[in-house]
Amino acid sequence: MKGISKDFAGKSALRDVDITFRKGTVHAIVGENGAGKSTLMNILSGALEPTSGKITIDEQEVIFHGPQDASRMGIGMVYQHFMLVPTLRVWQNAVMGNEPRRAGGLIDKAAAIRKIQETCQVYGIQLNPEQMVGTMTVGEQQRIELLKVMMRDASYIILDEPTAVLTPQETQQLCANIKALKAIGKTIIFISHKLEEVMDIADEITVLRLGEKITTISAQEASADALVRMMVGRQVDLTGYPAAVEPGDVVLQVDHLCTRRTEFSSGLQDISFQLHAGEVLGIAGVDGNGQTELIDAILGMQRISGGAIYKNGEDLTRLSAAGIRRRGLSLIPPDRQKQGLVLSNSILMNTVLGCEKDSRFCKKGLLRMAKLRRHTQDLLQEYDVRMPSVNAGAGELSGGNQQKVILAREFGIRSGDLILAVNPTRGLDVGAIEFVYRRIEEQKRAGKAVLLVSTELSEILRLSDRIAVFFKGRCMGILPRQEATTEQIGSYMMGIGKEETASCQ
Ligand SMILES: Nc1ncnc2c1ncn2[C@@H]1O[C@H](COP(=O)(O)OP(=O)(O)O)[C@@H](O)[C@H]1O
Ligand SMILES: [Mg+2]
Repeated sequence: MKGISKDFAGKSALRDVDITFRKGTVHAIVGENGAGKSTLMNILSGALEPTSGKITIDEQEVIFHGPQDASRMGIGMVYQHFMLVPTLRVWQNAVMGNEPRRAGGLIDKAAAIRKIQETCQVYGIQLNPEQMVGTMTVGEQQRIELLKVMMRDASYIILDEPTAVLTPQETQQLCANIKALKAIGKTIIFISHKLEEVMDIADEITVLRLGEKITTISAQEASADALVRMMVGRQVDLTGYPAAVEPGDVVLQVDHLCTRRTEFSSGLQDISFQLHAGEVLGIAGVDGNGQTELIDAILGMQRISGGAIYKNGEDLTRLSAAGIRRRGLSLIPPDRQKQGLVLSNSILMNTVLGCEKDSRFCKKGLLRMAKLRRHTQDLLQEYDVRMPSVNAGAGELSGGNQQKVILAREFGIRSGDLILAVNPTRGLDVGAIEFVYRRIEEQKRAGKAVLLVSTELSEILRLSDRIAVFFKGRCMGILPRQEATTEQIGSYMMGIGKEETASCQ
């Protein structure tokens, strides 16, 4: 790609970018949200035409007027947002638009499945062609997208932030797939802002910042620190200790809380802790060890089988979910797109989502739009949300900006004295992570009680005054931050270090 520039409605997204991808290598592209990574890849995959610049393959200039043109030249892309039909099976999705047909015109299912199984075998992709897509995990769905690309026999495979939505295990599986593709001579372009995995699988790394190429370096000479500095343009340090704040009264008290064990969940087994004003309590643990059950129980969305939850002395378990939210509770949910926002609604409406009836914005059942707009505008500016306008859809924002809208709403408008933050920085780039950390600490300094659930140990260590480690629905121990070591937390996370406690089921 040579001299690539792209303007959107007069706004420049890419300026004069040169990148050379070498055959049979993994080339990573890193950069903060909005750096232009997706735009650059959409140009390479034929989905967008550049404003200027050219693409050559094997020294031959190519011009793409659509993804089909790029596909014919062997370029395939796995997009950030999948394009699958959940009510159809894997094989139907995989051959969609290109179905093998019998003489009479009917779809030849046997041929389709044969082709899929062959492709899966050649490229080491694990999939069951008969499975219904809607029942599959995100990681499995992503494999279908990869399968679609490989069925067209792509030589150049572009993956746009493929690991942002994956669990650590799924990420490992994908990295194994990528290494296998490279081993048979495919060229892979891998976009990510997780620097550890980038340095693990990439041969070369290109850094983009604000639409410009900063550099391309070999992965061997790269260090995480140096990459971050180039991505953000300054030093960022996400390590360190939580701010010292004198804790106040108990805000949240969880007393011998139990939920039922099911086929899918170990339930909660006798969980007890207290959380004070001006304190962050971190809940560490591998995903699926009771964290969701705890948060849902506090929110009144999970039936409990024993124990109680008190907020400022009041038993929440007797209240409805709506009643609990009215008691001053702010929530940063784990899935910002499905639980945090209504993507098809405007940024404006998302900023007051759930607080529309607040007397600040609503009079006699009608929204006071002018007031709402003024208030929201200021707040979103304070939270540094980069957006075209407050009327744009929340779905048009990058992940980091979507999360800032949620923070603005939960801290700036709802402003409960209890904050539940669940994986608040998942999928965000370093600049945005730093922003979220700063805002959470600001809330703590203001005397809010913060329950932080996170699978990122570094995040837990950076923010938490005390750390509770969950394993199979039990609390293995609560460590003050000064006494917490990665080793100690790690062994608790694996269930080592505590006698079986009596369960109350
Ligand atoms: N279709 C579009 N219309 C207008 N602006 C866009 C469009 N796509 C991307 N942009 C803008 O281009 C810039 C780069 O975006 P993008 O390529 O998505 O960044 P990244 O993938 O690195 O997060 C951003 O400022 C974004 O708002
Ligand atoms: Mg992108």
